[in-house]
Amino acid sequence: MPRHDQTIALVTGAAHGIGRAIARHLSREGASVAVIDLDAEGVAETARLVQDEGGRAFATGADITDMDVLTAAIDACEAALGPITLLVNNAAFTDAGNLAGIGLESWHREIDVNLNGTYHCLRAVLPRMQARGGGAVVNISSVNAVRYFGNPAYSAAKAGLINLTQSVASEYGRHGIRCNAVLPGSVRTDNITWTIRQQKDPQIFQKLARWYPMGRVAEPEDIAKAVSFLGSDEAGYITGVSLPVDGGLLAGMNVMISEFILE
Ligand SMILES: NC(=O)c1ccc[n+]([C@@H]2O[C@H](COP(=O)([O-])OP(=O)(O)OC[C@H]3O[C@@H](n4cnc5c(N)ncnc54)[C@H](O)[C@@H]3O)[C@@H](O)[C@H]2O)c1
Repeated sequence: MPRHDQTIALVTGAAHGIGRAIARHLSREGASVAVIDLDAEGVAETARLVQDEGGRAFATGADITDMDVLTAAIDACEAALGPITLLVNNAAFTDAGNLAGIGLESWHREIDVNLNGTYHCLRAVLPRMQARGGGAVVNISSVNAVRYFGNPAYSAAKAGLINLTQSVASEYGRHGIRCNAVLPGSVRTDNITWTIRQQKDPQIFQKLARWYPMGRVAEPEDIAKAVSFLGSDEAGYITGVSLPVDGGLLAGMNVMISEFILE
């Protein structure tokens, strides 16, 4: 029996990259997938890709920073596919690389999308899951939540997601709701940040690979597989966890070590 044949998943920020990969992966494992994004055309294309593979999908454009718009979008998703059993908070935004250079407007926008927007999704979906007796949530955080890798406002918001994950796990466990976070390292996507970095250096992903014990950056499917596991019954006793999916980046500092262990 497919792992997710009873799952109705809502994936935010699924117009591109990792969110699209999560939606397609969950669908291949049997889930119906509702996809929400600011980019209505992109998310409609994600739904088409899922449907072309024989899956069940519903797409709608929505801004997760607007609680009313988001609630209406979630109502539409549930009317189309049924009650959401798995929420994947994936939508995110960053454009400010360092603390000295960040403008006030960028700071507020990044906190608003990455932390407040995720809270809005939880606020909309948790009472529905509670009323129905359970569900699962996976928050997409980042290795930036636990070390400095640039993008400070985004990183502060992603750190907030780790604590928010623990709040949900602690308060809602007794309602049959699990909540975990995934912390990706560098993932080969065409998001705005990586597009700009690749324009500066077309070899950027190959160069970054030496920092990763696994010898490569992640593909979006690497993240999708972890989300699928944490969102499934196989992870039925796992909650409140923040799982790095980073090819070992946080495990050690190989590039530094190669400076003093000359082998
Ligand atoms: N790509 C990486 O290297 C990497 C590394 C660590 C963590 N992550 C995390 O993985 C997730 C996906 O990243 P990605 O690389 O696929 O990025 P992406 O930019 O391609 O996807 C993010 C999506 O969120 C949407 N979005 C932004 N603001 C929104 C809003 N207010 N309302 C609704 N949708 C909104 C965007 O339109 C976009 O489609 C994010 O949470 C990101 O922080 C990515």
